[in-house]
Amino acid sequence: MLDLINVSKSYGEIQALSNIQLSIKTGEIVGIVGKSGSGKTTLLRLLNLMEQPSDGKILIDGINLQTLPKKAVRQQQQKMGMVFQNYNLLENLNVQDNIALPLKLVKEKKPTKVRELLNFVGMSHKAEVYPAQLSGGEKQRVSIARALIRDPKWLLCDEATSSLDEENTESIVRLLYKIHQEFRPTIFFVSHELETVKSLCHRILVMENGQLVGEFPNNPNQFLDEKLSYLEKVKRSLQS
Ligand SMILES: Nc1ncnc2c1ncn2[C@@H]1O[C@H](COP(=O)(O)OP(=O)(O)OP(=O)(O)O)[C@@H](O)[C@H]1O
Ligand SMILES: [Mg+2]
Repeated sequence: MLDLINVSKSYGEIQALSNIQLSIKTGEIVGIVGKSGSGKTTLLRLLNLMEQPSDGKILIDGINLQTLPKKAVRQQQQKMGMVFQNYNLLENLNVQDNIALPLKLVKEKKPTKVRELLNFVGMSHKAEVYPAQLSGGEKQRVSIARALIRDPKWLLCDEATSSLDEENTESIVRLLYKIHQEFRPTIFFVSHELETVKSLCHRILVMENGQLVGEFPNNPNQFLDEKLSYLEKVKRSLQS
């Protein structure tokens, strides 16, 4: 359970977030949509503890995150996987070493786990390849595997499909859905692509000028039936 109570964030004169009130259930898939500059990334940066609110409280299971000592904050951050629009892979590391990187930072090595994740995201055949030789969709699969390496309870995706074409977007959404089925993380999926958000999320939050201006339940169903042909999906999408 995650609660934001009257959370605001300002950078000098700029009010990036104003009075956000929000409760998220464990295991929920929450979509966050809004125009550029509406505060979506700032909200994620507060959730992953990269930034502190200027006002208000963020509680995880009733515990106020601002009152935690530094070590506990780091432990909390390790429960969070991040996925970005530009993948953030290290160009000088191959696929398997990129995936293992968060482990190396905490001085662990888990080759079996890396192999399992490579398999899970469908990238086993490119384990030794470097990011420059991958397509955008493949890079995002690697970055998702890296986000999963420490068994996150939270998966925070900031425009994870916004650089991808329709087909890759769909396959990444399917992968996120599969991750949710298998590991049940709470997922935050930030995007300006409403149709993509509708295809994945249980609830859609709308942001405008740093405020939460709307909240809608959603029944994610599009794209997720792998058996449909591309033609069939286009037909259904045009009918709906
Ligand atoms: N570190 C910062 N310093 C100053 N202003 C910032 C900072 N980060 C964000 N802002 C401002 O806060 C507001 C919200 O920014 P944010 O990045 O959260 O928007 P966004 O919804 O993610 O936009 P986009 O869709 O373009 O990614 C913007 O006005 C932005 O300029
Ligand atoms: Mg953003």
